[in-house]
Amino acid sequence: MAEKVAKKVKAVKKDAAIEPVDIKIYPQRSVLFVASECNPFAGTGGLADVMASLPKELAKSGEFDIRAVIPLYSDIDSAYRANFRFEGNFNVPLGWRNQYCGLFSLKYEGVTFYFLDNEYYFKRKGLYGYFDDGERFAFFSRAVLEMMQYIDYYPDIMHCNDWQTALSAIYLKTIYNSWKGYKDIKALFTIHNIEYQGQYGNEQLEDLFGLPKYAKNIVEYNGCINLMKGAIQISERFSTVSPRYASEIKNPYFAHGLEYMTTQNEYKLSGILNGIDQSSFDPSTGDKLFASYSAEDLSGKAVCKAELQKMLALPEKPDTPIIAIVSRLVAAKGLDLIKCVFEEILSEDVQIVMLGKGENEYEDYFRFMAERYSGKFRAIIAYNKDLAAKIYSGADIFLMPSKHEPCGLSQMIACRYGAVPIVRKTGGLADSITPFNDDKRSGGNGFAFESYNAHEMLYVINDALNTYHNKEIWQKLVKNAMTTDFGWKKSAEEYANLYRNMLI
Ligand code: GLC
Repeated sequence: MAEKVAKKVKAVKKDAAIEPVDIKIYPQRSVLFVASECNPFAGTGGLADVMASLPKELAKSGEFDIRAVIPLYSDIDSAYRANFRFEGNFNVPLGWRNQYCGLFSLKYEGVTFYFLDNEYYFKRKGLYGYFDDGERFAFFSRAVLEMMQYIDYYPDIMHCNDWQTALSAIYLKTIYNSWKGYKDIKALFTIHNIEYQGQYGNEQLEDLFGLPKYAKNIVEYNGCINLMKGAIQISERFSTVSPRYASEIKNPYFAHGLEYMTTQNEYKLSGILNGIDQSSFDPSTGDKLFASYSAEDLSGKAVCKAELQKMLALPEKPDTPIIAIVSRLVAAKGLDLIKCVFEEILSEDVQIVMLGKGENEYEDYFRFMAERYSGKFRAIIAYNKDLAAKIYSGADIFLMPSKHEPCGLSQMIACRYGAVPIVRKTGGLADSITPFNDDKRSGGNGFAFESYNAHEMLYVINDALNTYHNKEIWQKLVKNAMTTDFGWKKSAEEYANLYRNMLI
């Protein structure tokens, strides 16, 4: 922090005609990402992918010292642990508790990662779903702040993500607010999904979360503690993962009760579209695929399709379009629309391949349908990245009719593999897919429909199936999809701008 004061350096006078100037050299600013998951260490969804790629992209320019912190889950592979450096240990106060926290670090792809260790909380299978998740993430969020003091590192910006880390922002702006080192830290809170807010009974304020009584005003909402609400209110800025979702969350249909907070605080809200790590989803490398291909030479894609059909014991028909669905099987992904017209879709000349797991209701339904329509439909109830790549590469169409979608990454991945997406125009789906079926039918990288209505979706699916048989137009669409730029460059620059603005 001491070097935060800008140093003045006199330019060397080389030429009498040139006036000497004072060049201000600012020290590198520092950003600490705080999250509950991050690939390749531990992840369950899109947040982990964003954490794997955004910090790395931001670190490239050298403008910011980028670091990130996550819990040390037992899921983290020993191959990474072998390279960890033990930084020491400290105690974390939380209500009446005072708990051990071990600190490990790893420099990985230009980013310094910290891992916070407490075996009681994190030596468990998986990441979430325990009765004491509130206590586990309160511990983690508080430990992040204690870590700063322990290693004498105070970032300029603490960038928190989703409800599990909302408390880091809340602790920073309450308990630590006037402490030396902490008082200049700015907080940015990013919402990846407003559906999960971290709600608890009011009686937990002091006992579980170790918050002072006056913090009740900050975290209370609709008669209970709501951690996401607290972070929105107290952070200098908050953001979501697409511009469209940033405007949607001011609307009760999307806000899950938080519309009053999002509208009241809209002056400090931004929406920045996520990117993907394009090198990880590049069919020309052939990684995990039956054959490699590119937008210039699609011949390998036909091999991928034939091999996928063979592997799944589907009839090997090169001219029958394959629709892929790779998704968590939950209501928000629009599966009710699919269920509603599923047999109508299957009555066409089509094959459907589904990969994903989730709620029993959907798993059971799709398993049942896979038995009934065994010549046309395969459901693989699992989460498997390698298989996902094989499915994207073998598919012609990718269906993602989400009810709401803060950003969505699968539609971008599908594009990379030349599986043309059909999406509902919501959130990041609307911001990343330009519909071919909108008026001119000349450009675009996919198909889209507006209302959450099964027959509107069916109409657009049939449009896509018909267009598929026009080889020339379809090839163009596939190429458009494959060459759309979904990289992080532009969005990382928007984050950098947001950080710069916060530090003025
Ligand atoms: C959440 C959202 C998803 C988004 C991801 C990364 O998983 O549901 O739409 O892409 O976070 O921000």
